[in-house]
Amino acid sequence: MIYFDNSATTYPKPYMVNNAVALSMKKFGANPGRSGHKLSRNSSREVQRCREVACELFGVGSPENVAFTLNCTQALNMVIKGFLKPGDHVVTSCLEHNAVMRPLSKLEKTIGINYTIAKIYPEDNNKTVDSFRNAINSSTKLIICTHASNVLGVKLPVERIAALAHIYKLPILVDGAQSAGLTTIDVQKMGIDFLCLAGHKGLYGPMGTGMLITNKHEMLDTIIEGGTGTDSMKLCQPKIMPQKFESGTPNIPGICGLRAGMEFVKSKGINNIFNHELKLMQYLYDNLNQISSVKLYMPRPSKDYFVPLISFNVKDYISDKVGKFLDKNEIEVRAGLHCAPSAHEFAGTLETGTVRISPSVFNTKQEVDRLISTIKRI
Ligand code: ALA
Repeated sequence: MIYFDNSATTYPKPYMVNNAVALSMKKFGANPGRSGHKLSRNSSREVQRCREVACELFGVGSPENVAFTLNCTQALNMVIKGFLKPGDHVVTSCLEHNAVMRPLSKLEKTIGINYTIAKIYPEDNNKTVDSFRNAINSSTKLIICTHASNVLGVKLPVERIAALAHIYKLPILVDGAQSAGLTTIDVQKMGIDFLCLAGHKGLYGPMGTGMLITNKHEMLDTIIEGGTGTDSMKLCQPKIMPQKFESGTPNIPGICGLRAGMEFVKSKGINNIFNHELKLMQYLYDNLNQISSVKLYMPRPSKDYFVPLISFNVKDYISDKVGKFLDKNEIEVRAGLHCAPSAHEFAGTLETGTVRISPSVFNTKQEVDRLISTIKRI
């Protein structure tokens, strides 16, 4: 079986991730930060170890600024719903995932926020930044943008959009689900106020892991309250990070695996992983471009403007049909809308969806060749 659905979840995982998860079930079986016994203290140390690795990887000032979540969607909801108040205006991009668009739409209906969608110009960052600038108004309170589109691979100039946001004294929330592990993210250098991440994609951790990274937690209210193992006499949620956002028993096997995944990424080198995947996708693009019945929606992926993934269609076929054909031929891809209808509206593929090929560090040129010859059979 050939797996090209790594933008959904990377698979397989590095052996050290599998080992870390298995080991955690034996060695770290107690609740961290709750009971004071040895087993519990061991679990706490492991959680802290993962925070420290994340802190280093993402240029975070202090490990306490890293809160573990279930996934990127949960982290995004925590910021969007914990920050916005009635009447607030948000500027966001036209490539956002439903993890951003659905919370915004819900708040629009329930508390009366409103938002403007800024158009993105692939390969023209000046126009993209202008588009964000033009969408800001006197009620704008937050900028939200994805670092990279999960459908089209387009990379947004988040550093420049953050600089723009700060001129207007606005915080910026970045969805790093598709870029973490593939593109350097340094929250301090890039001026990112809230960074939301998935652990199970380019960070090679297990599913059910994510992170909210911020040193602006005082700007957020909580949307989930509960036991943290601290200040238990008080009925109000602790005000300090990370306890503020980490109620309930955490996913210790997931966190141990995530730590191992991030260490794997560090040892391979983000640039090396990116260059390997980009080469594969450029090779695929060049081949697909020669098949007259294949429709491509973006320019050839290049280092500065894209993360390595390709969306395409064959003739006017609904993408699911092509996805099923590939599945029958032991090639696993994602077809459809990828939970991001906005991006499909932008690409003009809302009706058909697209077939998405997303590689990981483990894919090879031989596998891309198999994919190309199978697409040719369609
Ligand atoms: N958001 C994930 C994807 O793009 C699941 O497939």
